[in-house]
Amino acid sequence: MALSISILYGSVRDGRLGIRFAKYLEQALKARGHKPVLIDPLEYDLPLLRKRYSDYKPGEKIPANLAKLHDILASSDAYLLVSAEYNHTAPPALTNLLDHFYAEYAQKPSAIATYSYGPFGGVRAAMTLRAMLGELGCGSIQKTLPCPAVHEAFDETGKPNDAAAWQKRSDGFLEQLEWYAEALKAARGKAKKK
Ligand SMILES: Cc1cc2nc3c(=O)[nH]c(=O)nc-3n(C[C@H](O)[C@H](O)[C@H](O)COP(=O)(O)O)c2cc1C
Repeated sequence: MALSISILYGSVRDGRLGIRFAKYLEQALKARGHKPVLIDPLEYDLPLLRKRYSDYKPGEKIPANLAKLHDILASSDAYLLVSAEYNHTAPPALTNLLDHFYAEYAQKPSAIATYSYGPFGGVRAAMTLRAMLGELGCGSIQKTLPCPAVHEAFDETGKPNDAAAWQKRSDGFLEQLEWYAEALKAARGKAKKK
């Protein structure tokens, strides 16, 4: 089943590296027959949270970038987070993006891919994100996908240095996300019919 999957990337830093990993995962999802949308916080340039999407009153003008993000997130079957580790937690651009929305995530699964420049692959950020995603209503799957030395693992276009190893790793991870996304999509469909 082709799934709509939002990839939420979390860095707006000058010289950022994780965009390579996000591009790789976008290509991997396409290769598996899905419809990924890569959400780059640099492109949307959201302010630090003043108002969640749901805080806008009927008839009130909603900023175009917020409305566009709402539409993408609301129509997604699953969320794939691509997060750096900043001081052992997720970067503020990512949590700020997540915080602007709430109901959009309900009853859908998420998956956490993390990366770092160093050897640990950002796994500590994954643990903090897991708690946050649970609270947002889109709990994360069991598998995570850590990428150490992201600058060596992928080039600027997202091409992996070791394609076979990355295919094996990402296939297992994405397969698990697909299982939950399909199961929850069917359950949401059933609940709507009742
Ligand atoms: C503010 C800041 C905090 C960081 N903290 C960590 C950390 O806790 N653990 C780690 O492995 N790397 C840390 N790093 C290094 C990042 O892994 C590396 O800079 C990575 O490329 C950041 O992702 P980005 O390039 O997509 O912004 C930190 C980098 C920054 C800028």
